[in-house]
Amino acid sequence: MIGGGYVGLVSGACFADLGVEVAVVETDPAKLGALQNGRIPIYEPGLDRLVADNVAAGRLSFGDDLAAAVKDVEAVFIAVGTPTRRGDGHADVSYVNAAAEQVARALTGYAVIVTKSTVPVGTGRHIAEIMRAARPDLDFDVASNPEFLREGSAIGDFMRPDRVVIGTNSERAREVMRRLYRPLYLIEAPILFTNLETAELTKYAANSFLAMKITFINEMADLCEKVGADVHDVARGIGLDGRIGRKFLHAGPGYGGSCFPKDTLALMRIAQDWGAPSRLVEATVQVNDARKSGMAVRIVQACGGSVHGKTIAVLGLTFKPETDDMRDAPSLPIISRLAEGGATIRTFDPVGMEHARDMLPPGVVFCTDAYDAVRDADVLVIVTEWNEFRALSPERLKQLMRGSLIMDLRNVFDPKAITGAGLEYRGIGRPAAALSRE
Ligand SMILES: NC(=O)c1ccc[n+]([C@@H]2O[C@H](COP(=O)([O-])OP(=O)(O)OC[C@H]3O[C@@H](n4cnc5c(N)ncnc54)[C@H](O)[C@@H]3O)[C@@H](O)[C@H]2O)c1
Repeated sequence: MIGGGYVGLVSGACFADLGVEVAVVETDPAKLGALQNGRIPIYEPGLDRLVADNVAAGRLSFGDDLAAAVKDVEAVFIAVGTPTRRGDGHADVSYVNAAAEQVARALTGYAVIVTKSTVPVGTGRHIAEIMRAARPDLDFDVASNPEFLREGSAIGDFMRPDRVVIGTNSERAREVMRRLYRPLYLIEAPILFTNLETAELTKYAANSFLAMKITFINEMADLCEKVGADVHDVARGIGLDGRIGRKFLHAGPGYGGSCFPKDTLALMRIAQDWGAPSRLVEATVQVNDARKSGMAVRIVQACGGSVHGKTIAVLGLTFKPETDDMRDAPSLPIISRLAEGGATIRTFDPVGMEHARDMLPPGVVFCTDAYDAVRDADVLVIVTEWNEFRALSPERLKQLMRGSLIMDLRNVFDPKAITGAGLEYRGIGRPAAALSRE
């Protein structure tokens, strides 16, 4: 497994748990040092135990010696990052290409090279060319096996996936992959064999569809605010239709995270390059960008046009709960803009503060818990829906805060309980007109 990040570490540990011998290669000395000393460099529920058990069983190891790791293996998974390339929105595949070349030079016999990273259509074929150029004598096949796990529930997603997609044009590679995934066959996880390009595109199509669904309900939330409707009920009313489905219909501050922003942008570029532009994906990217930057404006307006001199408590920093991942989190532009506007920010996140420290402007106050963050605040803004925030006592918030405005960007609070405690509630897509009819 080349790369010991969220995907490489989780899928490496899960394969090991399924009985496969896995060597994870990680080049970042800090991450590798942690892993070799029994510490998990990321926050993912259950991962510490899974890694410890499989290291103890001798099936999982960590190192930086790629040549040693790929000796006598049947498959090499590439799970390195594919961030947005600076300037043009394309996915940066330089880490994938570099890993493929290193693997080619190090392999001693036949192996299947599998991209687990999310890669643009055509990458599989391209890495085959890179490998052939580096090692004309080498016998190998390439496959695409995109990962669909979600941070926060990654182990369950890997072990009980909705589906596994495997794209390869070689029967020999298909057989290796079939054997690797045999335990999941036994629990009847659908395993979809496709060609390379189909598997590569499926991953982008899945993420872009989900991003589009979120963006759609966010637009409906804006409309709800104008017409006096409640977006919760609209989401339920459409989501109970099996053709639509209830998931990913939670209105909020716009999607963020390590995947949706970069993958929608990359699919947009891929489609443009191939002369089949996707207007829907383009609109999704635009609407979401505007929404994320508009959230701070919404807060400023709710404060009467200026946040200068105000103290604002921000609860939740990570892009979603149950992860420490801060990549493209909506909290980043929100906090930066409020701080630029002259507000003092007091914040708390259960696990994201360490990563957030380097990404937020100086002067942000990191607090010990949610109640500490709201002390003397004029406004409370909920940015990430960690479960522990749902249970905050409105009465205690009222006691601790100086002001009374609650901006619930995730609709986690019961509006009646908030207003009942003498606070002012503003959710997303839930105007007072809709709530008073409840
Ligand atoms: N994070 C997710 O939820 C998720 C889900 C599905 C798919 N993906 C995709 O999986 C890929 C990896 O994502 P991630 O979130 O795990 O990224 P990450 O940044 O957490 O991990 C990548 C790791 O690879 C290491 N690395 C880079 N080059 C290397 C090399 N040559 N040898 C060894 N190690 C190397 C880096 O040091 C890093 O630790 C991306 O393409 C992403 O789009 C991510």
